[in-house]
Amino acid sequence: MCPDKGRHRRPQRLCICGGGNGAHVLAPLAAGDPDWDVWIYAPFGDEADRLTEGIGRHGGLTVDTPSGPVSGAPHGVDRRAKVAAAGAGLVALVAPAFAHGDLLSAVAPHIRGNAWVGALPARGGFEFQAPALLSGKPDVTLFGLQTLPWACRIGTYGESARVLGIKDRVGVAAWPAQRAPAVAARLRRLLGLMVYPMHSMLELTLANVGQIIHPGIFYGLLHDAGDPHWAAEDVPLFYQGLTPAVADLLAEMSAEVQCLRRALEQEFRSRVRLDHVLTLKEWLLDTYSTTVADGTTLAQAFRTNSAYAGLRMPVRSGPDGEWLPDYGSRYLTEDVPYGLVVTRAIAGLAGVRTPVIDEVIIGTSRWTGAEYLVDNELIGRDIARTRVPSLYGIQDLDSLVQAVVGGATRPAVSS
Ligand code: NAI
Repeated sequence: MCPDKGRHRRPQRLCICGGGNGAHVLAPLAAGDPDWDVWIYAPFGDEADRLTEGIGRHGGLTVDTPSGPVSGAPHGVDRRAKVAAAGAGLVALVAPAFAHGDLLSAVAPHIRGNAWVGALPARGGFEFQAPALLSGKPDVTLFGLQTLPWACRIGTYGESARVLGIKDRVGVAAWPAQRAPAVAARLRRLLGLMVYPMHSMLELTLANVGQIIHPGIFYGLLHDAGDPHWAAEDVPLFYQGLTPAVADLLAEMSAEVQCLRRALEQEFRSRVRLDHVLTLKEWLLDTYSTTVADGTTLAQAFRTNSAYAGLRMPVRSGPDGEWLPDYGSRYLTEDVPYGLVVTRAIAGLAGVRTPVIDEVIIGTSRWTGAEYLVDNELIGRDIARTRVPSLYGIQDLDSLVQAVVGGATRPAVSS
């Protein structure tokens, strides 16, 4: 398989797409791996220039990890896909899901025919969008990570970043689905952490807990808060401020995903394996086994998770120096259209009702000004800016399972 070259071979190109927090971590880690010739594709704003300047000034990128600093310089940075992605054998999208489409379209003509192309993390519906955009490359392997392995922030742009926390283990799914073990093995070496194979990208989409946690807490904390605004010190703690009522809401959303899981497992038996679609509490205790002090209830597990300590509600400054909820936050603009709405669409195909998820989609859409659900159907004016399967010609559950889980043949999708 293409990127699994021995160390004596010429390194292959790894094209990192994006110039944000995650890219500032992945680039120096990967630059130390002799298998890869690392390039960054940064088309957004003036990021390519700022990266190039910073890397030149600093002599590379340095990331502070819990086990010490790691430094490395990418081979090149460019805002043009034809330069940064030329002949790439591995493409890593490290950007919010709403940028995936543009990034994929730009790199597609320039990568190798048998490249591995993946998103860190995939969020929902990557398995529908990516095959459509890469239809000219029938031998490409797609993959998606369940989450970004690191909680990380840029220190100085183009120079440094800090890893605040590392997940114990991260799942990866692939398309074709049976390639996941090979991808997991390769990423384990590249990322230096436990990457385990998942059964399919459908499992990945349903196991995306960010779609529950971020919109769910936002909605739970604020839906009956009137016109919230706070002094800086009063901005609510996002996780540690979780009330039992908000935890109940999250548990109900999670239960609806579990209903969908059971419905799919019953319908398709062993053909669709969804073992990694955990309840939210199971996921939290599994992922943060060492940092949750009290896992007796879901609310306590969130409130006592030291990895979440001090993290506040996303806010923006208001006209009078107060702080207002930031409804433009990715917690809503990424996790609703590229998470919850995709899951809701799959539930619709499966005939599974999701009243609580629907309430959260409708409530948060009022804040963002988007429209997805109308009269209980996903026909709102912004549905084209999601990744629901119908956008890619998938109208029923059989076609969906055939496209995502079925054998090695490319699914019949249209963009
Ligand atoms: P970021 O916000 O730092 O970086 C985003 C980058 O994506 C930008 O710098 C830009 O290069 C690119 N981008 C954004 N909008 C674009 C557009 N319209 N067109 C082209 N490129 C665009 O994001 P970050 O923090 O690196 O996160 C990447 C992904 O990982 C996101 O899905 C995020 O939700 C997820 N994640 C991040 C965590 C973190 O601690 N940073 C933790 C868990 C998940």
